[in-house]
Amino acid sequence: MKNKIGILHPYIPENASEDERDVLDQAEGISVALKTLGYDPVPVTFDLNLEAVGITLKMLNPAFVFNLVESVNGRGSLIHLAPSFLDYLGLSYTGNKTEAMFLTSNKIVSKSFLAASGINTPAAYTLSSLKHDASVRGRFIIKSAWEHASIGLSQDSVISVESASELISELKKARKRMKGECFCEEYVDGREFNVGLLSGENGVEILPPAEILFVGYPSGKLKIVDYRAKWKPKSFEYLHTDRTFNFGPEDEHIIKSLKTTAAECWNLFGLKGYARVDFRVDGSGKPWVLEINANPCLSSDGGFAVASALVGLDFPMVVKRIIDAI
Ligand SMILES: Nc1ncnc2c1ncn2[C@@H]1O[C@H](COP(=O)(O)OP(=O)(O)OP(=O)(O)O)[C@@H](O)[C@H]1O
Ligand SMILES: [Mg+2]
Repeated sequence: MKNKIGILHPYIPENASEDERDVLDQAEGISVALKTLGYDPVPVTFDLNLEAVGITLKMLNPAFVFNLVESVNGRGSLIHLAPSFLDYLGLSYTGNKTEAMFLTSNKIVSKSFLAASGINTPAAYTLSSLKHDASVRGRFIIKSAWEHASIGLSQDSVISVESASELISELKKARKRMKGECFCEEYVDGREFNVGLLSGENGVEILPPAEILFVGYPSGKLKIVDYRAKWKPKSFEYLHTDRTFNFGPEDEHIIKSLKTTAAECWNLFGLKGYARVDFRVDGSGKPWVLEINANPCLSSDGGFAVASALVGLDFPMVVKRIIDAI
């Protein structure tokens, strides 16, 4: 008899937004790959009714759980609840452990770890830290502390301020329109890259870095991957952003430092299975870590799968690597 595998994913209501629905495509792709690998995958919904989730999982008695929970009740701040609950049930699961998930998912916390270990990340300020730093001025991007998938990000998220008090009032406004805690981060005007990381037999394999290209953006329009660029297929932003893995010799140095820094992030947070590090590179060629994604999008035709294919790994092989790392 084939081993049953629980594919754990968040409950997605009918009227959910594009970014939330994406996980269902991922679950479908993982399910196909698991069948190719000889398993019997069964989707299991994760929500705040933990008792019911626990009963379902106990009845299923899976060999392991494939954890695709990237939000709970639409909130990224509850992301660590799924691995934490699986720990409690004593079930093994794919991807990152509870601690790494928690530390990387709160961007303010993860940035303080990065900064403390000497990894470049743009300076960040919160409402409380700004009270002690009156000299702050410059160009900032306002982001959510917990949410991912560019939720709440638009051209209006980047602001120039002359004083800390201006920034404080912008952050207060942002807190009302975005879900939960926000912070502001120094804006890095430059190129954008991301690097996928995958467990391998001999430790982590650093996948080929991808650059996001902003094609034909008019001058004055900020080159950022905002919500429209990610999720609105008919928008200018979606249609004018592209991905490349091809670099000339002039970029060799940047590619090398992106890979080294991505590996440092993997080690710093004790990552496992798979992850993705997002970067901006400034005009002098210096990479700045924006964030660590401890459960990046794993759709069978997404960026992670494309980067893996470049090193000869088809999607079932990627899934197998993730399973072997449990
Ligand atoms: N400090 C910054 N300087 C310049 N651009 C930034 C900065 N921070 C974020 N951005 C832009 O906003 C996008 C989303 O930011 P970030 O990766 O931090 O958030 P996210 O919502 O968690 O994204 P993901 O979808 O990768 O989970 C980045 O891809 C980048 O284009
Ligand atoms: Mg990102």
